[in-house]
Amino acid sequence: MTAYPRLFSPLTLAGLRLPNRVTMAPLFLGYARPSGEVSPLILKHYREMGASGAGLVVAENAAVAPEGLGSPFTLRVDDDRFLPGLSQLALAIKAGGALASLQLNHAGRFAWRDEPLAPSAVPVGGKTPRALSVQDIARIVQAFAQAAARVKKAGFDAVELHGGTGYLLAQFLSPRSNRRDDTHGGGLEARLRFPLEVIAAARAAVGPDFPIGYRYLADEWLPDGFSLAEARQAAPALARAGLAYLSVMGGTYESFFLPQRQEQEKHQGYMTGLAAAIKQVVDIPVITAGRIQEPAFAEDLIAQGQADLIGLARVLLADPQWPIKAQQGRAEQINPCLPACTLCTKSVMKGRAALCSQWSEQKRQEVQKAAAQA
Ligand SMILES: Cc1cc2nc3c(=O)[nH]c(=O)nc-3n(C[C@H](O)[C@H](O)[C@H](O)COP(=O)(O)O)c2cc1C
Repeated sequence: MTAYPRLFSPLTLAGLRLPNRVTMAPLFLGYARPSGEVSPLILKHYREMGASGAGLVVAENAAVAPEGLGSPFTLRVDDDRFLPGLSQLALAIKAGGALASLQLNHAGRFAWRDEPLAPSAVPVGGKTPRALSVQDIARIVQAFAQAAARVKKAGFDAVELHGGTGYLLAQFLSPRSNRRDDTHGGGLEARLRFPLEVIAAARAAVGPDFPIGYRYLADEWLPDGFSLAEARQAAPALARAGLAYLSVMGGTYESFFLPQRQEQEKHQGYMTGLAAAIKQVVDIPVITAGRIQEPAFAEDLIAQGQADLIGLARVLLADPQWPIKAQQGRAEQINPCLPACTLCTKSVMKGRAALCSQWSEQKRQEVQKAAAQA
């Protein structure tokens, strides 16, 4: 018995049976080793997330190519040498009962390097990226495919492609960052080509039955950026390409820190309108995230058909017992992610391991110590 029967009802995602509608949305915390390998700290963290009661844990973005790393301490999946650590990561998540997925990323123009690669040479953050050649594009498509195959080989139950946060997949879709006039730029159909190539190559690499999810940037929240109107036009083509779900989000590094967005981000369900708008145009499940703090709110989102699954990121970091407390009717005991707090985000932006102000002093010290040893 639970006060939230829809939230705790099962759902099958491309053959993968989730026991409930609660997922962990990817949350990069800077816990990997500087070499991109899995560290004891990252294993400890994901063991806790896997035991949270969430049905599916999508581990944070992992780089498919060395030049696609978003930050220092980002996981890497661009070589077989990372397989043993990734297998441990999958096991750590599954030990607690959750299904395990890993997010694959190429950061493109937001990569942590002096001359990033991007669809076009549009300056950002004081750097001008180098426009990708047709050969580069083909190489990166294959890098995603090989990384997806490694995720499967490592024992994960699913893989997610990172089309959010304004990283490379999203950069191709965006008229702001994609100014190409070849086969991969111009109208929406041409801007969609790279994401569709990546999905097709990943599908070929993992076979017909392995679930592939997609983090979908449905609105850049920038005047000349990818808009919800275009996102609704593009979503059915993505869905038809054989995705298990779309995990909808909004914003990029160019819009996250704008004052109106910072204000909006303090509100429960601040990205749910985007998910609901995408859900209207696709027939695959949709995940919504964004400060979903109250189980009753989550229950209503599902009951009203705004989304099929809930994604918790910082919310689950602040209280790794959220799903268990919700299921047991102890919602009032959930420690909330504080809207005014930016500790985790600020830490990772400075290249440090993330901490949470809701943790005990002892836990914060343990994480700091483990990060120093990584
Ligand atoms: C520090 C930090 C790291 C994040 N890392 C990722 C990531 O690796 N991949 C991704 O798709 N989203 C990432 N996100 C976005 C989250 O998945 C989520 O959409 C957002 O934080 C809203 O959910 P929440 O309020 O529960 O945190 C990150 C967000 C933050 C604050």
